[in-house]
Amino acid sequence: MLSKDRYAVIGNPIAHSKSPLIHAAFAAQTGQNLEYERILGDNSQFASTVRAFFANGGRGLNVTLPFKELAWQLADERSIRANLVEVANTLAVLPDGRILADNTDGAGLIQDLTSNWHINITGCNILLLGAGGAAQGVVPALLEQQPAQIIIANRTATKAQLLVERILNKITPTIPIQGCGLDALTGQSFKLIINATSAGLWGQIPELPSECVTQTTIIYDMVYANEPTPFMHWGQMHGAKLAIDGLGMLIEQAAESFLLWRGVRPNTKPIMQLLRPN
Ligand code: ATR
Repeated sequence: MLSKDRYAVIGNPIAHSKSPLIHAAFAAQTGQNLEYERILGDNSQFASTVRAFFANGGRGLNVTLPFKELAWQLADERSIRANLVEVANTLAVLPDGRILADNTDGAGLIQDLTSNWHINITGCNILLLGAGGAAQGVVPALLEQQPAQIIIANRTATKAQLLVERILNKITPTIPIQGCGLDALTGQSFKLIINATSAGLWGQIPELPSECVTQTTIIYDMVYANEPTPFMHWGQMHGAKLAIDGLGMLIEQAAESFLLWRGVRPNTKPIMQLLRPN
């Protein structure tokens, strides 16, 4: 019997990652012979763990918190979209053994918003909350959709401003983009509010003025949970039109990684059904 191609997700913590389940379902659906495991990473040994994985026949890795920046740094080659954001969520081995870094998070978010939820981002007034790797990873993909504007707001205003500066060093967007603190949002409302902060991990929400939400606002939380997240709950309480969590983005970014590794993009609908029946 042919041995299976090896893939894994590396992060810390990693025990609750749904990626093995998602990729096993993709493999079954597309008839690909592969195995996909979890690796608990460690900051000081991240690079050696990744190199050992590929040296021992591994074909691809998904990279999750807190290693996305390290993954981008250690790669020998980088895709254009990974270079724009300087964080990577996907690694693949090239035919000559070198390691390629890619970032499928932005594509995953756009695919979820536009294909799964039929949200038209073009011309949309977007508020992106957070200025860490999660926010950084999706900005170019959002800009590509030609929204009306993107405001990046963060608890620490300077980090949002620095993030915008870093982006403007790489891209010259045709639409306005600016960074600010959460308090600068007073009196403004948005069509789409994307939460890319890690506040929800501690059951918190970024403290933004309630007038940011109107009856036409769509709330998108990049984290996911079985119950509505605290931020979704906050949006619903303030009358948002729709509140969505990041499960679809997780599945869509996985499908983009699978496409890079295996040359086929799985149908994500059945996997969504599997992970969130009804
Ligand atoms: P990630 O890679 O997931 O983006 P990160 O780089 O640690 O993680 O960034 C976490 C983001 O969540 C930051 O924007 C952080 O705001 P600060 O820059 O002010 O620290 C934001 N964040 C975390 N907890 C928050 C909270 N309780 N309220 C608002 N923002 C929060």
